[in-house]
Parts: sequence; structure tokens; C-alpha cells
Amino acid sequence: MDLGCGGGIDVILAAHRVGPQGRVVGIDFTPQMIERARETVATADLRDRSIELRRVEDMAETKLPDGSADVVISNCVINLCPDKDAVYREAFRVLRLGGRRSLTSLSPGTSTPSSRRASVRPGRDVSAGLSRKTSISRP
Ligand SMILES: C[S@@+](CC[C@H](N)C(=O)[O-])C[C@H]1O[C@@H](n2cnc3c(N)ncnc32)[C@H](O)[C@@H]1O
Repeated sequence: MDLGCGGGIDVILAAHRVGPQGRVVGIDFTPQMIERARETVATADLRDRSIELRRVEDMAETKLPDGSADVVISNCVINLCPDKDAVYREAFRVLRLGGRRSLTSLSPGTSTPSSRRASVRPGRDVSAGLSRKTSISRP
């Protein structure tokens, strides 16, 4: 499951990783991004893969079943969400026991040099603070 899949690049990368037996679900709340992801996926020659692009009101409510995902990924999205705890709760609800979660997000206090941090405009320069990738396994 890709939370905040945007234009679908990571959905395509994930579809290559899961192979023909697997399934990828990309979640986003803007119909425009879902549409763009659909177009991008259509050009990627992945007809033998199961890919669902799901528009939701908020990724804190994906409506996916408990424990249904082996892996939850999210790139550069959680920093945009006012209720981050709700997003983490949802990610863990959907993640199966022993599954993996790989998230990147803007977080103050990472190893971003202070010279760059000073020029970051919150909500606009999303990639400016992306200096660390975290991978967490569900016990
Ligand atoms: C910075 S883009 C990142 C897109 C993609 N993950 C990537 O790496 O290219 C953020 C995406 O998250 C979506 N998004 C932001 N807040 C969301 C929320 N609360 N629920 C679902 N999608 C959200 C936006 O519509 C946008 O497509």
C-alpha cells in the first residue's frame, strides 16, 4: 500500500517488486492525482499486475481490511497531514503482523544542514528536509 501515491511512480516500482502474484494499492485524496497515476501506470506495461488506485477522503481512513498489507510505503506525504497519529494508526492497522513500513517525510531536527533549513518554506519545499529514510517493522 502506498499512502499518498501522487502520480504513481512508487506504485509502478512496487508493482515490479511484488511480481504477478502480488497486488499494489495506491491511495490518494485528490482525483487529479489518481487520474495522473492511472495514466502513468497505463504507460508502464504492467498488464499482468494487480494495481488498484483508490481515492479516499483521507489516508487515515483507507477502508482496507486489517492486516491486509505486507508493506506500507509513503513518500513525502505524512508531513502534509495535520493528524499524523491517525495516519500512523491506520498504517499499522492495515499492516499485517511482521509486515514492513517504509516512510519518508519532512521532519524538523533531521540532518538537514541549518543553512538549508533556514530557507525551507513549510508546506512548499517538501523535499528540502528529506534527509533520512526510515524503515520500521511491525513486531
Ligand atoms: C508530495 S506528493 C508525493 C506523491 C508521491 N508519494 C511521490 O513520492 O511522488 C503528496 C501526495 O499526497 C497526497 N495527500 C496529501 N495529504 C493526503 C491525505 N490526507 N490523504 C491522502 N492523500 C494525501 C497528495 O494529494 C499528493 O498526491
